[in-house]
Amino acid sequence: MAYTVSKLTDYSAEALEKAAAGCVRACADEAAAVRNDAELKAFRDRWLGRKSGVLTQINDLWLKGAPKDAKREAGILVNELKARIQELVDGAQVSGSGDDADEQRVDISLPGVRRPIGAEHPVIKTTNEMVRVFQKLGYSVADGPVVETDYYNFEALNFPPNHPARDTQDTLFIAGQQSKPQRERLLLRTHTSPVQIRTMETMRPPIRIVIPGTVHRNDPPDASHSPMFHQIEGLAVDTNITFGDLKGTLDHAMKEFFGSSVKTSFRPSFFPFTEPSAEMFVSCFICGGSGKRGNDPCRPCKQTGWIEILGCGMVDPNVFEFVKDNAYDPKRVSGFAFGMGADRIALLKYGVDDLQLFFNGDVRFLGQFA
Ligand code: DAH
Repeated sequence: MAYTVSKLTDYSAEALEKAAAGCVRACADEAAAVRNDAELKAFRDRWLGRKSGVLTQINDLWLKGAPKDAKREAGILVNELKARIQELVDGAQVSGSGDDADEQRVDISLPGVRRPIGAEHPVIKTTNEMVRVFQKLGYSVADGPVVETDYYNFEALNFPPNHPARDTQDTLFIAGQQSKPQRERLLLRTHTSPVQIRTMETMRPPIRIVIPGTVHRNDPPDASHSPMFHQIEGLAVDTNITFGDLKGTLDHAMKEFFGSSVKTSFRPSFFPFTEPSAEMFVSCFICGGSGKRGNDPCRPCKQTGWIEILGCGMVDPNVFEFVKDNAYDPKRVSGFAFGMGADRIALLKYGVDDLQLFFNGDVRFLGQFA
């Protein structure tokens, strides 16, 4: 028999509890029996209807009809009851198979749920391609921390404390490090070169490694700068490594990466951790080295026919001194190193004119490289 609200005569705590429990049970049973949308609506109206819903009746019969001294108790109980009934009504669902055809209709014309699988970021893709070139030459991949100490980022790379060469690195320092000795102070690594030292500390020569990774510098973002960017570093150490090995290796790598028709050119430069040092250029793979595209000037190489790709050189003996104990005696071993900007190479490779496009996360832009 359907539940009906009857007047209360007994307002004792037990009687109130019992009446409330009976009401909740009835509501729950009715909720479970709802079989279609029409029944659901009827159920909702029956319990919550403003004029003559069960809750309204309870309000009238139990609360308004309560004797003065039971009003407070009855009020608390009715409030709890209302919340419980509301929950049951809200939670009620059309159940069972039902014969009502509306119930489970699926609209097959609606678009499905798209789950884009994502793709490699163009900078990561470029990095991986470059790393692969060196892996084929027998290099392995090494990495190290982005939050680095002064020792690895500078001192062991032959940037002595207070040396002006440090100024070229626009370093972002971690705050609150003043109480530590300088070499232990933390900073965001400004290049991947510290991993040269870290690797030589743990691996004895001969070694051949490539080191991809993020680096940071205090550069405001613009079309060609970003406070975070990516480098790929390389290091080869053995007995009798010469500048000829450096040139041969890098020339081969550039031909693998950009195509066999590119040429390389080495121009003297300076880095504290290499001696001698050079900048390596590749002939412009956009204009073929002519500096012109049809009648227009070639912009990526600024009409010179050459594009600067990396810094390199022979590992400075002073650097080996820091890892001498792990068999890097500068009298016995020699090596070459190089470092390039992966973002810049990706910009050139894909003909993108604004570095920020790589980092502001617009999937319409990034999706083009998938
Ligand atoms: N670490 C240098 C920089 O970020 C790049 C570089 C130059 C790396 C010469 C090397 C190297 O390993 O030999 O400016």
